[in-house]
Amino acid sequence: MKLSYRLERLSQCVPQCAAAADIGSDHGLLPCRLLESGRIERAVIADISAASLQKAVKLLDVQGLAHRADFRTGNGLDVLLPGEVQAIVIAGMGGLEIIDILRRGAAAAADALLILQPMRSVRDLRLYLMSAGYAIRSDFVIKDGKKFYQIITARMGEDALILDEEHFGRTDIERGGAHYCAYLVAQAAKLQGLLKDVPEENAAYTAHTQLLELTKRQIQSLKERGLWQI
Ligand SMILES: C[S@@+](CC[C@H](N)C(=O)[O-])C[C@H]1O[C@@H](n2cnc3c(N)ncnc32)[C@H](O)[C@@H]1O
Repeated sequence: MKLSYRLERLSQCVPQCAAAADIGSDHGLLPCRLLESGRIERAVIADISAASLQKAVKLLDVQGLAHRADFRTGNGLDVLLPGEVQAIVIAGMGGLEIIDILRRGAAAAADALLILQPMRSVRDLRLYLMSAGYAIRSDFVIKDGKKFYQIITARMGEDALILDEEHFGRTDIERGGAHYCAYLVAQAAKLQGLLKDVPEENAAYTAHTQLLELTKRQIQSLKERGLWQI
């Protein structure tokens, strides 16, 4: 079974444990890999769409893994009992949707390691995690093909973010890395492009300018620390 680099990296963030849930699983590839590799013994595979969940049912059946999975149709963490799983993956959705899911299902998420991969609104998600009493354990960007994806792992605990961590992710600002450097270059180019189209008096102009400055500072800081890899 061939997984995308994104799904492979997500699977590696799930710790060896008895049970994990994949919320919004769709195709079921991720829990399939987790079960097949022995990283987890049982999986809760959930999706709000019964049609999407059927894809996972089929895949797990073909792979001979369905007897180790519970398939549940429902909204977010509503499908889980507190303490039922040790890890919860929520990937491939918008950051605001992930926030909504965590808000509704705080009890189910209380003791689990969260593995989150928002498609957008990443900073909003980081700020929500802080306000809701989670501690971020790792937060890094990966490049899969031409696209960048942030992967955040978190669990309940005390934490606070500095401004750079809010925007760029804790792990990457400490260690750099080729994917992060490529991300910063792409981000700077994107912001420079956006600034050409936005009138200076517009609030977005100020926001883009500030983020561009932070991005340039990140690049400079990595270079000064010998962590620039391009
Ligand atoms: C783009 S797919 C992502 C699939 C997989 N997690 C991945 O990362 O490749 C998003 C899936 O999330 C499901 N979904 C969206 N909102 C949901 C919610 N509130 N609760 C459960 N599933 C949801 C959708 O039905 C869809 O199957």
